[in-house]
Amino acid sequence: MEEISTIRSAEFLPDLAEYTLIQSAKVSQEAPSNIALVKYWGKKEIQIPTNSSLSFTLTKAKTKTEVGIEKKSGEGFEVVVYFEGNQNEKFKEKILKFFERIHPFVPFLQSYRFEIHTENTFPHSSGIASSASGFAALALCLVEIEILLGADFSPQKKQLKSSFLARLGSGSACRSVYKGLVYWGENPNIKGSNKRFAIEAPFEVAPVFKTFRDTILLIEEGQKKVSSTAGHALMENHPYRDRRFELAEENILKFQEIFKNGDLKAFVALVEQEALGLHSLMMTSSPPYLLMSTNTLVAINLIWEYRRQTDLPLCFTLDAGANLHLLYPESCQEEVGEFVKEMLAPLCSDKKYIEDTICW
Ligand code: PMV
Repeated sequence: MEEISTIRSAEFLPDLAEYTLIQSAKVSQEAPSNIALVKYWGKKEIQIPTNSSLSFTLTKAKTKTEVGIEKKSGEGFEVVVYFEGNQNEKFKEKILKFFERIHPFVPFLQSYRFEIHTENTFPHSSGIASSASGFAALALCLVEIEILLGADFSPQKKQLKSSFLARLGSGSACRSVYKGLVYWGENPNIKGSNKRFAIEAPFEVAPVFKTFRDTILLIEEGQKKVSSTAGHALMENHPYRDRRFELAEENILKFQEIFKNGDLKAFVALVEQEALGLHSLMMTSSPPYLLMSTNTLVAINLIWEYRRQTDLPLCFTLDAGANLHLLYPESCQEEVGEFVKEMLAPLCSDKKYIEDTICW
């Protein structure tokens, strides 16, 4: 692996002399959603995280995006966006903002009219964040177009640039261009770490983790109560800020050990500590937010009781919302499946949950 920790943004600037502006082209890419084990919460500048994060990439929950380009003249961006077959102005706004940001690194954006078709494999407004998979899929498409125009990228550079661009759309999106266990941030003990893009976590991973599943309980569907941007901003003056940032780095190193030695008990404890830690940061911010719902708490208590009774390595994690992700190895899939169907599904909106796996 090339020494990537020294790569700076300037290295993603394209060499314009290399490019030939073709008349038109169409590319399509897909990217999965990811679930953080160590949470990214707090940022500086444009999506520069204040602490490292670590995530699992999912398999089924994905965004599929097709980008068509047609050469145009004149300045400015021309974009039409279709979400699940219908023109979508809200997504267009977001993509225009993204284009503004990434323009120095993708200079052909003003030379083409873009027609973007995007769809998710998970239900619309199910409460699963689509910004990570969405920006990752779009960034992968743009890098694919750059290659069609003549950019000479090694497979590694292609992934790094996609991750770098995706990050400028939504921070956690930079982790969605990789499979398996993904690291994003800067930690002196992690080789290749860099805040500008994610990398495959350079960790030894015990075989049991390669069988992990993620069952997502759709406890509350619909829009988030607090946007990620507003949430990250709450960390700026947070009373626990400094200790949280140190703790996240400590937890990354603890996970490194856990993944190496396959210690499921320690995994379960640390995953839940991070999830509840994220929510306690929200509850103690100014203004405070309570993003878990009553049924989230009921489910957590049932999971704890179930674990006390069965001793199975089933744990939960949470994003900035009420939905729970249940993580467990395949070996307990049958028992956990029964438990979810009987005890946890009734707590979900329309009894809905999604059964996914971690993609390696
Ligand atoms: O990528 P953003 O800005 O939507 O932030 C994601 C924040 C969390 O989902 C709460 C944690 C994470 O690391 O994914």
